[in-house]
Amino acid sequence: MKITAKFLDANETATGGLVLWLNKGEKQSPLVRKVDKALNGHITQIIKERDFSGNALETLSFDTLGQHPAKRILIIGLGEKADVTAETIRQASGKSATAMKQAGIKIYISTLARAQAKQATPAELAQAIAEGTLLALYTFDKLKSEKETKKIDELKIVARSAKEEGLMTKGAKKGVTLAESACLARDLINSPGNFATPSHLADQARKISREFGIRTKILDAKAIEKLQMGGLMGVASGSHQPAKFIIMEWLKGPKAEKPILLVGKGLTFDTGGISIKPAGGMEEMKSDMSGGAAVIGAMRAISALKMKVNVVGLVPATENMPGGSAIKPGDVLKGLSGVTMEVINTDAEGRLILADALAYAERYKPDCVIDMATLTGACMVALGDFASGLFGNDETLIKQLKETSEEIGEPCWPMPLWPEYEALIKSDVADVKNVGPRAGGAITAAAFLKKHVGAETKWAHIDVAGTAYTAKARHYITKGGVGLGVRHMVRFIEKRTDVK
Ligand code: BES
Ligand code: ZN
Ligand code: ZN
Repeated sequence: MKITAKFLDANETATGGLVLWLNKGEKQSPLVRKVDKALNGHITQIIKERDFSGNALETLSFDTLGQHPAKRILIIGLGEKADVTAETIRQASGKSATAMKQAGIKIYISTLARAQAKQATPAELAQAIAEGTLLALYTFDKLKSEKETKKIDELKIVARSAKEEGLMTKGAKKGVTLAESACLARDLINSPGNFATPSHLADQARKISREFGIRTKILDAKAIEKLQMGGLMGVASGSHQPAKFIIMEWLKGPKAEKPILLVGKGLTFDTGGISIKPAGGMEEMKSDMSGGAAVIGAMRAISALKMKVNVVGLVPATENMPGGSAIKPGDVLKGLSGVTMEVINTDAEGRLILADALAYAERYKPDCVIDMATLTGACMVALGDFASGLFGNDETLIKQLKETSEEIGEPCWPMPLWPEYEALIKSDVADVKNVGPRAGGAITAAAFLKKHVGAETKWAHIDVAGTAYTAKARHYITKGGVGLGVRHMVRFIEKRTDVK
């Protein structure tokens, strides 16, 4: 699908559909007034008849029956004017794209919501429209014999001048890149475990690296063993799929600037191992590589946008299977950091593989390390499916991550990480054990990760167990893999490095 900005008159352009916006209680906006006039007051009449009040994401649509060059008009509510942000526009654009698709429309026009979202620039609004539209229209049908037939070919976003058209085109392009990168992450998450193996993740990382010029190295099982990554080796030992350790380097920033390290849990299927999970719902554990998918997607976005930054992505990738040579409760593994880890429960495997990735990150003398992982059911219990858990050892870093997450519509909420929690994972036979008491499970998991981070390293951990995968579609989020973390990391890196 093509998304462009065009200097055009909505009253003069033939199209399948036209999107207009209204705030709560607003009967008219300059643009709605203009179209209303061309339709001899039909909009005013229909707003009254259908009791449309402009609440956020409320929609009103009608056929123009030959009275306007747009065959169908869709008015979408944005709620209170003071509350409208880029996220509102993203959600509303997702909703309008879905409505246009359902109506079988191929080409449509969207106005910019300039009057409704005053804080945002035209480029930012065009970006939000592009993101919301493409994310909402995502489908995963590559494994179906019957493909989705309703497809939109083009969306034109109305610019007010040739100059604005240029600025908006740039914004829309950025939105397209971000949405496509998040959709790549969704594809990886939605792909079942027998497709999205550790080797497949590595192949995909290689593919985008060739396309966008990322320097990528894949450590195979032999190299992982040579390095003595005991956590990753241990978890992989129950599986016939060879583990991979994916390293993606994008070092295009100032030489003196230390790199930002992104680490993602790449557990391509989590059976629980010998501490096997119950059968019900286990199929969703194909999504246990969502953190890894976020890193690969973010690396794609950063490189495609040619950001002048230093970023390295690390993805430890393996299955967690209960094979004959699998690790057992009570086993002790030695991580790359040198820390010995007693395996109390083989289902707490994410922290074992992340331990090695976090230790490996130290080699880059990073500015900061951010890991993303579907780590604990406990985090889902704590925060539900709306916010991810945010942990770390640096207030500024946590603040930047929280703020940018809210900005882009993937809220992360700070959780405590006091030393008391570290005491709960002391082991009788090793340095740490991989499970503490049931209560506070998301925090002890984070405390475990912290053991493998350098004392001077600024680090944050985002637990996305409750947020990375959804059974229910809403606005621009489709069922299955959410693709979260991709837009968040790009926005965070922009903010942290001051690079636009
Ligand atoms: N991958 C799971 C966490 C998870 C649960 C992700 C639900 C998404 C949805 C993780 O490896 C796991 O199994 N964690 C255990 C840890 C426990 C054994 C301490 C958990 O949360 O139950
Ligand atoms: Zn597990
Ligand atoms: Zn897991």
